[in-house]
Amino acid sequence: MGQEKIYRCYESIRERIPFRPKLALVLGSGLGDYADTVQVEGVIPYEEITDFPRSTVEGHKGQFVFAHIRQVPVVMMQGRVHYYEGYPMEDVVLPVRLMHLMGAGTLFLTNAAGGVNHQFQAGDLMMITDQISCFVPSPLIGANDDRLGPRFPDMSRIYDPDLQQVIRQAGEALGISLKEGVYLQLTGPAYESPAEVRMVRTLGADAVGMSTACEAVAANHMGMRILGISFISNLACGMTDRPLSHQEVQEAADAAAPRFRSLVTEVIGRIGKMTAAQD
Ligand code: HPA
Repeated sequence: MGQEKIYRCYESIRERIPFRPKLALVLGSGLGDYADTVQVEGVIPYEEITDFPRSTVEGHKGQFVFAHIRQVPVVMMQGRVHYYEGYPMEDVVLPVRLMHLMGAGTLFLTNAAGGVNHQFQAGDLMMITDQISCFVPSPLIGANDDRLGPRFPDMSRIYDPDLQQVIRQAGEALGISLKEGVYLQLTGPAYESPAEVRMVRTLGADAVGMSTACEAVAANHMGMRILGISFISNLACGMTDRPLSHQEVQEAADAAAPRFRSLVTEVIGRIGKMTAAQD
């Protein structure tokens, strides 16, 4: 048995895709309006795709947006699908697989996350260097679809070292200081208890969130080159006196959006130049 659903999704939109994207960009909280800042060349709402899972979270729109960003053909996911919404893990990673079928060889993941590292502050941007998937089922469980990738994929370099270097250079060029660290995915939707935050830190993570790692596993399986940046919207529970709210996370993400947007654009431009040199 293969992942027939993805191929059905792809067939239902194949003729509406305006160009072959090279890079897939997942817009996390805080980058939701990034698509409003680019010259949009095509939009495919998720609801118009046969069998596509739908996002139910406030602040997450659901559509693929196509645009050239600094000359790089990009497909963006405006609104991701979360495991905590109740979808099977296979559906959670379906959009990422679909973007790969459209042609994207590189996956740029973004998210909002809680800072766990004591050196972090709310408002920081963290380049993801590695990840931990914790209590989240693997999207690769079940019969392997050999068309997508191997049964036992290597995971020793999920986040491409060359692309990490591009992010560092882009940050330097823009004068944006970047943290680096390990992202850990829990299921959510509840934020962590202080004891869980201690556990997460003990496990070796610097930031915690409810997405991303599963998408990176699926993309790594397909041989995509992956890069990721977390926006540290808050320090994780128990690290400050205040309780945490989704509104606080959203407001902090909105406030940092201009900085995050310019970094993302700069990184994409540099990836474009790098791959043009390789073509
Ligand atoms: N925990 C989990 N997910 C999050 C957080 C957090 O503190 N902030 C933003 N997403």
